Amino acid sequence: MKIGFIGCGNMASAMIGGILNKGLYKKEEILASNPTEEEKRRSEERLGIYITLDNKEVVQKSEILVLSVKPQFYQEVLDEIRDVVREGQILISIAPGKTVGWLEERLGKEKKIVRVMPNTPALVGEGMTGACANENVSEEEMKQVCEILDSFGKTEVVPERLMDAVVAVSGSSPAYVFLFIEAMADAAVSEGMPRQQAYKFAAQAVLGSAKMVLESGRHPGDLKDMVCSPGGTTIEAVRRLEKDGFRSAVIEAMKVCVEKSKNM
Ligand SMILES: NC(=O)c1ccc[n+]([C@@H]2O[C@H](COP(=O)([O-])OP(=O)(O)OC[C@H]3O[C@@H](n4cnc5c(N)ncnc54)[C@H](OP(=O)(O)O)[C@@H]3O)[C@@H](O)[C@H]2O)c1
Repeated sequence: MKIGFIGCGNMASAMIGGILNKGLYKKEEILASNPTEEEKRRSEERLGIYITLDNKEVVQKSEILVLSVKPQFYQEVLDEIRDVVREGQILISIAPGKTVGWLEERLGKEKKIVRVMPNTPALVGEGMTGACANENVSEEEMKQVCEILDSFGKTEVVPERLMDAVVAVSGSSPAYVFLFIEAMADAAVSEGMPRQQAYKFAAQAVLGSAKMVLESGRHPGDLKDMVCSPGGTTIEAVRRLEKDGFRSAVIEAMKVCVEKSKNM
């Protein structure tokens, strides 16, 4: 069973890295394409898998095909590969805004299409992916796809109407978290902490807090209250964050992310 990636950039590399780390596929069972010699060489060096300049070769040699180019290149790539896509092949799309219907129109209604939205923490085995499929994909095949997605993190099968929300809360969200970590570290640096140490403190605080949410099953507000001692330091920081619209800034940012995803 071979898995192929058309476009081997950030997201494909994160997924391939995760798959290889988990040992779900061997290097010889994964192939990908890049459009230039230079990119091809870099991908080969980075991942140690077979890279070709020929997208059709990826389609022909793989049973599961991942479309991992930017959404703006989807039409061009689908036009190029349409004739070599086989019935029975599982097509995984990872682009925001490209609905199952949109993909069916271009590839054929009889094709097996899975729409997924992963995120880059896949690279360290902590990805979070939302997935939905058309009716041609059997339960067994969806299980197989989820096994691949689970190899680099966690997966939730969701109705397609939630996929734009998945883009905002998962696909794009690492960027907001990195921004938050960077901001916290900058503040610590301004207090005299060495930068690398500041990143370690900030990142570990985010990691530990996320673990508490996932493992305790408690409401995040409840966990926040646990940190806020009466008359203490934390409630002062929380008060200031609320005053400056932190919560609303996050919600509004995710709203525009959803809108962008819907209109890609
Ligand atoms: N990055 C994320 O965090 C993230 C998260 C979830 C989903 N996604 C989705 O994943 C997809 C890929 O995103 P990305 O961030 O990985 O982008 P990326 O780093 O730009 O990777 C895309 C790769 O596709 C190559 N490419 C462009 N045109 C091609 C063609 N005609 N044939 C074959 N390869 C081609 C690009 O090469 P050149 O650089 O030479 O153009 C690049 O290597 C997008 O649809 C994106 O929305 C990304």
